[in-house]
Amino acid sequence: MTPEQASARRERSDRVHALITALRALRQQHPTDAPEFQREVSRHLSALAAYSSLWRLEDFPIPDGQRWGVYQLHEEADGSLGLYASAARAGHAQPPHNHTTWACIAGVSGIERNRFYQREEAGHRPGPARLIRSGTQDIGAGGTCFLLADDIHDIEVMPPGDAMHLHLYGQGLPHLHQRLRFDLALERCEYFPAFTGIPVFDLTP
Ligand SMILES: [Fe+2]
Repeated sequence: MTPEQASARRERSDRVHALITALRALRQQHPTDAPEFQREVSRHLSALAAYSSLWRLEDFPIPDGQRWGVYQLHEEADGSLGLYASAARAGHAQPPHNHTTWACIAGVSGIERNRFYQREEAGHRPGPARLIRSGTQDIGAGGTCFLLADDIHDIEVMPPGDAMHLHLYGQGLPHLHQRLRFDLALERCEYFPAFTGIPVFDLTP
């Protein structure tokens, strides 16, 4: 390991732990649906994402043959505060879904297109569901968005890729078993299986 790599490892570890310390304090100070919480979480995550040298794609490789590589940077012992580095090639996409917990995304590089939806009919439980699109936001370097637990979005990484984003959730992804995934064409929704087996990134300095 070069001195530069060792320095980056130490800085990444320090800055992630500083974010977690700040988040622990924020959730004591504000309800998680309060504008102050949303603004401060977004500000802290965006500040961490701005250290782009800590989030280089070569340190978070996308597995061969896949379009997405996601790495867990943190999760509290109780499963809360799931923080991930998400590296993706152009074309990586997730269908419309909610999260059942708050979520925040901050861009490091590349463009992750977020489309937002509202329910036009049903869609609160598995079965028929009709959505209407309510907005679009391209999240690139410096960009951020905050989603409440029942907000619905989809994502698509736009050409030319590759993209790196930080994703933060009130509860870690392996614990989200009641998320809903929507099929726009079929006008239905179903439970979105929790993501499991996410590799843990070694933050040891
Ligand atoms: Fe999402």
